[in-house]
Amino acid sequence: MKSHSMEDLISLCKRRGFIFQSNEIYGGLQGLYDYGPLGVELKSNLKKAWWKSMVYERDDIEGIDSSILTNPLVLKYSGHEDTFSDPLVDCRDCNSRWRSDHIEDGKCPNCGSSNLTEPRPFNLMFKTSVGPVEDGSSFAYLRPETAQSIFTNFKNVMDSTPHSLPFGIAQIGKAFRNEITPRNFIFRVREFEQMELEYFVKPGEDEKWHKEWTELRVNWWQEQGIAKDNLEIYYVPDEELAHYSKGTVDIMYKYPHGTEELEGIANRTDFDLGSHTKGQNDLDIKAKVTKNSQSNSKLAIQDLETKEWFLPYVIEPSAGVDRGFLAILNEAYSEEMLDDGKKRTLLTIKPHLAPIKVAVIPLKRNNEEMVMKAESLKKSLQKVIDGRVLLENTGNIGKNYRKNDEIGTPACITVDFQTLDDDTVTVRDRDSMEQKRVNLNEIKSFLKKIYNF
Ligand code: GAP
Repeated sequence: MKSHSMEDLISLCKRRGFIFQSNEIYGGLQGLYDYGPLGVELKSNLKKAWWKSMVYERDDIEGIDSSILTNPLVLKYSGHEDTFSDPLVDCRDCNSRWRSDHIEDGKCPNCGSSNLTEPRPFNLMFKTSVGPVEDGSSFAYLRPETAQSIFTNFKNVMDSTPHSLPFGIAQIGKAFRNEITPRNFIFRVREFEQMELEYFVKPGEDEKWHKEWTELRVNWWQEQGIAKDNLEIYYVPDEELAHYSKGTVDIMYKYPHGTEELEGIANRTDFDLGSHTKGQNDLDIKAKVTKNSQSNSKLAIQDLETKEWFLPYVIEPSAGVDRGFLAILNEAYSEEMLDDGKKRTLLTIKPHLAPIKVAVIPLKRNNEEMVMKAESLKKSLQKVIDGRVLLENTGNIGKNYRKNDEIGTPACITVDFQTLDDDTVTVRDRDSMEQKRVNLNEIKSFLKKIYNF
């Protein structure tokens, strides 16, 4: 088995339709990618797995899906207008721009010149105008994290659901950052997706929950197929903490380009609910729900025992969908030489994440009876399998197996001459390449038993 590079993954993504460069026919746009027919399936399966573990399998978390365009006041009070920036350095010789922490030995990574400007803060938020007049008086930001709309909806969700603390709000969605140097394929991009949970707890219980969520999240990534040895925990030092965080633990993954952050788990304290309470007070916005007379507690809740009003603390596990996608792809990818001297590229992706669950292949593409059997099998499997079942009627069986190994299809079912006689099919397992003869009336329970489809 040979070790692989980022280029191997990029090549597979393009060749098989996982990921394409965005706007490619017009020369592309840096830091943006489009997910193709297989990419959209894998990405959606990853998001489904997260949602299932966060929302469906727990009784203390609700989901939301909020707007991307964000009122500037939200990002003013959240602190993003003032502090959400990276230090930027310009090269005076070639006019390229760099994040100062990406500069090595004081030299421009493009032309090698040392003629660089001093670092200056560069705000990462994208702005757009709202409404028909573009005079700058009416603008919105494209959200830089999905978290803020969870905070601004905190009361709405609390009041419309039966929860008390601890309780969480989950959201999956796009976030936008005008990264100075997007790089490493989909690792650092300007438009990406986040899977974020804001878990509200009583002050004083925050550190216990921070530890608990760190363990839960490390385990979850392993359940998605990431080897424990390829994950690392990084305790972010105080000087590197985001403006809202009292403590952050990063789950790092060994990407082909180096070990970097896959997910961050931050203790945001009552920073955000406190800041938005202040925002409401400054603007004299009436508290909708809280009848509390304390002017600084509009997003506070009441302790049912002591009757005291307080702002909950927040633990935030925040994962990148695209970074998760890349980690899963990297983890699953391998190349091996078969006995016949041919190379096999293999994606040993977990069945619940696989973009294609089952490929149904008629042995002879011109045999009408065989093709009809395959079509009808595909249809009936598609009714019961949550995910895509593919009819492969493109020819050569060996090529079909190779292709499905390469895209991570856990099982290939071949309809052959024997099927026409006795209603049995061959099920070929991706990882072992073993083939089993299974009766058509047992195929669904077989797939359920082996792959949990
Ligand atoms: N709400 C907290 C927050 O946004 P963050 O560490 O800035 O924290 C959380 O981002 C996660 O979002 C990261 O761990 C990473 O997986 C993903 N992410 C952040 N910036 C990204 C980018 N430019 N491209 C791809 N993913 C990114």
